[in-house]
Amino acid sequence: MLATATPLLRRFWYPVMPVAHLAEGPKPFRLLGQDLVIWLDGDGNPAAMDDRCCHRTARLSKGFYASGRLACGYHGWEFAADGRVMRVPQRPVDRQGATNMRVPAYRAALRYGHVWVALEDPLHPLPDFEEEGLGFRRIDEFHEVWNCAGLRLMENSFDNAHFAFVHRASFGDQGHPEPAKLEIEEHADGFMMITEVPVRNPEIQKKVLNMDSDTTIRHMRGRWYAPFLRKLRIVYPNGLSHSIVTCATPIDDGSSMVVQFVFRNDTEEQAKAADVVAFDRIVTNEDRDILESTDPDVPLDQTGIEMNMPSDRPGVLMRRMLAQMIAAEAKVPQPA
Ligand code: FES
Ligand SMILES: [Fe+2]
Repeated sequence: MLATATPLLRRFWYPVMPVAHLAEGPKPFRLLGQDLVIWLDGDGNPAAMDDRCCHRTARLSKGFYASGRLACGYHGWEFAADGRVMRVPQRPVDRQGATNMRVPAYRAALRYGHVWVALEDPLHPLPDFEEEGLGFRRIDEFHEVWNCAGLRLMENSFDNAHFAFVHRASFGDQGHPEPAKLEIEEHADGFMMITEVPVRNPEIQKKVLNMDSDTTIRHMRGRWYAPFLRKLRIVYPNGLSHSIVTCATPIDDGSSMVVQFVFRNDTEEQAKAADVVAFDRIVTNEDRDILESTDPDVPLDQTGIEMNMPSDRPGVLMRRMLAQMIAAEAKVPQPA
């Protein structure tokens, strides 16, 4: 599966950037190979449109905010969030007002401090994370480009067999290379994987876990939301809950915007946000190094192009479910 060759992927919500990035002006974002401008209207609501002015093709991401609208940086045409041209400053005063000209606009939403965009009618709503309702604090961690396909990162997130090797320098325990047992519940939009994994508890992790033991157990509930979003809730024996939300938003076939934030049930006094980020930084860099060496084209059929082992079950299931979603979409009559 190559992301830009898979139209179904246009029908999901993806986080594109923290909303704070838009305070000063519009920003460009490439989603599934399509260049967008992301911006905030006068009420602070996010908007997403093609990054190409309908006058002389200038990039609208080079524009600026004007009275709650987006003004093109070239001749100042002003756009509403639905893409309509609302003002052409060069027209005489008595001919000002909304026009019939527009650029294509897309769905945009603000949730969890990030702007989310769906290019076409979303198959599923934005996920409701239980941690928000429980009042857990949110720590924003990463917003950065990785040169790998989103599906590789998703599979890796549910692959207990890599800890002992990829994370051998951090928490991986090479004394336990055999993967932990796991249970999987399928949902319409993905699955839940429940497992327990014994891990080392290195010095840098001891302070973010508030735990002195040299080893610990991770009780993990990993939720995959097709295609490229997961939330992994890890509960430690001392009651600490650390939920990692990661999305590999597809920029194009070979690169993803990795958006990651965590929810925790502790306080800044118990664990500094900077220390939490520092530990997850080490772990994610270990994943990144190996994932950027993988092939961007992920075969969905199991025809022996890639070999499997029993612990690959979650990744194999992802491939099967995505193949089914693509097949179901192909059967739906498309508007003429
Ligand atoms: S190119 Fe945008 S207003 Fe002229
Ligand atoms: Fe990993």
